[in-house]
Amino acid sequence: MDNKKNYKRTLITAALPYANGPVHIGHLAGVYIPADIYARYLRLKGEEVLFVSGSDEHGVPVTIKAKKEGVSPQDVVDRYDGIIRDSFARFGMTFDIYGRTTSAMHRDHASAFFRKLYDKGEFIEEESEQYYDPEAQQFLADRYITGTCPRCQNEHAYGDQCERCGSTLSPTDLIQPRSAISGATPELRKTRHWYLPLDRHEAFLKEWILEGHKEWKSNVYGQCKSWLDGGLQPRAVSRDLDWGIPVPVEGAEGKVLYVWFDAPIGYISNTKELLPESWEQWWKDEDTRLLHFIGKDNIVFHCIVFPAMLRAEGSYILPENVPANEFLNLEGDKISTSRNWAVWLNEYLDELPGKEDVLRYVLTANAPETKDNDFTWRDYQARNNNELVAVFGNFVNRALVLTDKYFGGKVPARGALTDFDRETLQGLSEVRQAIERELDSFHFREALKEAMNLARLGNKYLADTEPWKLAKTDMERVATILNISLQITANLVTAFAPFLPHSSAKLREMLQIEQPKWAELGSSELLSVGHQLGQASLLFEKIEDAVIEAQIAKLQAAKEANAAAEAAATPAPTVAEDISFDDFTKLDLRVGTVLECTKVPKADKLLQFRIDDGLGGRTIVSGIAQYYAPEELVGRQVCFIANLPPRKLRGIESQGMILSTEDYTTGQLRLVTPAELVAPGSPIK
Ligand code: 2FM
Ligand code: ZN
Repeated sequence: MDNKKNYKRTLITAALPYANGPVHIGHLAGVYIPADIYARYLRLKGEEVLFVSGSDEHGVPVTIKAKKEGVSPQDVVDRYDGIIRDSFARFGMTFDIYGRTTSAMHRDHASAFFRKLYDKGEFIEEESEQYYDPEAQQFLADRYITGTCPRCQNEHAYGDQCERCGSTLSPTDLIQPRSAISGATPELRKTRHWYLPLDRHEAFLKEWILEGHKEWKSNVYGQCKSWLDGGLQPRAVSRDLDWGIPVPVEGAEGKVLYVWFDAPIGYISNTKELLPESWEQWWKDEDTRLLHFIGKDNIVFHCIVFPAMLRAEGSYILPENVPANEFLNLEGDKISTSRNWAVWLNEYLDELPGKEDVLRYVLTANAPETKDNDFTWRDYQARNNNELVAVFGNFVNRALVLTDKYFGGKVPARGALTDFDRETLQGLSEVRQAIERELDSFHFREALKEAMNLARLGNKYLADTEPWKLAKTDMERVATILNISLQITANLVTAFAPFLPHSSAKLREMLQIEQPKWAELGSSELLSVGHQLGQASLLFEKIEDAVIEAQIAKLQAAKEANAAAEAAATPAPTVAEDISFDDFTKLDLRVGTVLECTKVPKADKLLQFRIDDGLGGRTIVSGIAQYYAPEELVGRQVCFIANLPPRKLRGIESQGMILSTEDYTTGQLRLVTPAELVAPGSPIK
């Protein structure tokens, strides 16, 4: 496969954010800033680019939020689409179109797409039993069913996973399932759905990605490889829900397209919305290079599911690259919408006006390109004060102020050059290639570093040449130094244009120049002698401690509110229903001594015990590995139920259950042990 093909145009997509909350710094660092940098870069180079995104407005979470607030799903998405759209505009995102998946264009296009696959026989249709909430009168997505985990007895396991023992579950595995929407006990009902048989595309995807796209980022390639090595299964592309695009098939009333089926089609329908006549050129012509900018949780959908859909349809191109990022954490914790642990873009723009580029800078300099990274307000402050202000801003300001002072703001002519001047100009001439090398391989952090190196070069040049000391003795030398400094300054306009667009434009205004061409980056002739510069003003301002402390206090308040909400939601201990004394005596509870204790391989939560039970010994597997190291338990006495039927856990026969108590305030499990040593096998009465 020819990856170095000379494409005529580039179509850049940025993941459609869910319109059920505002966007936060994690979204910006992972997706929107790199996509915007790339789009700006290609436009500066004069390439033909289209940059597409929009709101992802379907899916179950929207319906749940609407129900909770007593409004319609349309109200929810109208509100958040408005907030997201507005904050992206204020932040300076340069989408050519930011569309919506509730638009008529999208509904029609997604519907026609589904119908074409249906007519071509690209789906399989199957009936299965799924949980239905009789109170809410709807089928339940796996995540909206909770119950007791069959493996570790956690009462708050989800229908797809138990977060305590890490087991992957299906909803019917749960003991005492409950609907997370109404609390009702769900019932199994038969339902019919359409599935995209990914297995039919497996051989193609293996060849296309694993052989044809070895150049993809290792995090992306690695995730694809592990999916493909695991074997692909058919995926349901419809849901029983009343919010979404109706399945365009007779007899499919009450069924809509799965949100992950319609959302990526949003890239296409939004293009069509913008370019009703020529959209196909962007999606169907092999000369278009398609790039998807996404976060790591979207990799499987963009590298496997969407390409399989496009291929099944038959007339679309496939992505040439999917430069996905990892996650950004905030002050050491995972960003969480529900726990309000985030820096929301709309709030940032309100609270720190004029600091769009500071956020762009910090999130690019610290982008989670190869691994998860952490955003802290202290780092934000340090990068602003020590890099943007002290290096970039300081250099530019000195160059302009000195020119104003000695030459009335007119660019002076260069005289004879020293070796240091030549060395500096040589450094300047290398900057374009250095930035291009990094941007062309989607290394945005490194690319920004190269742009910053140009500011450092200028700053060092001025600091070393000290023109202010030469003003009385050698004005020709001062003129040379300032000419070189101003040429570097003018190059900073271009070098930073993709990364810090607001500051680049401000600097251009100060220099009173048009945006130079990208190809001119590195030139020492950008400013002609005698050119009148504009008024110098500060490009960046120092951020004081108080500003940062206010943001940290805001996060602290969110943390405290969460802790209070969690404590309020933790049920106080209640006494279970009465049982008869006979029932109690049926339980054979005993004390045993731990002889051996080891971790169960490949099970994070399980420990395997060999117990001296006074009866010849027994093996018990218990889900407490998170709370104890195996070696600390050897020799300890534990209480266990001796007359439970044996159960196989991870292939090991567990002959009983070790008793532990769950601290109801912390959820921690602690072993129950006798206060004094007793003979192994002693009964508990
Ligand atoms: O993860 C998300 O936020 C999804 N809304 C992304 C969708 S990307 C595309 F497929 F639309
Ligand atoms: Zn569990």
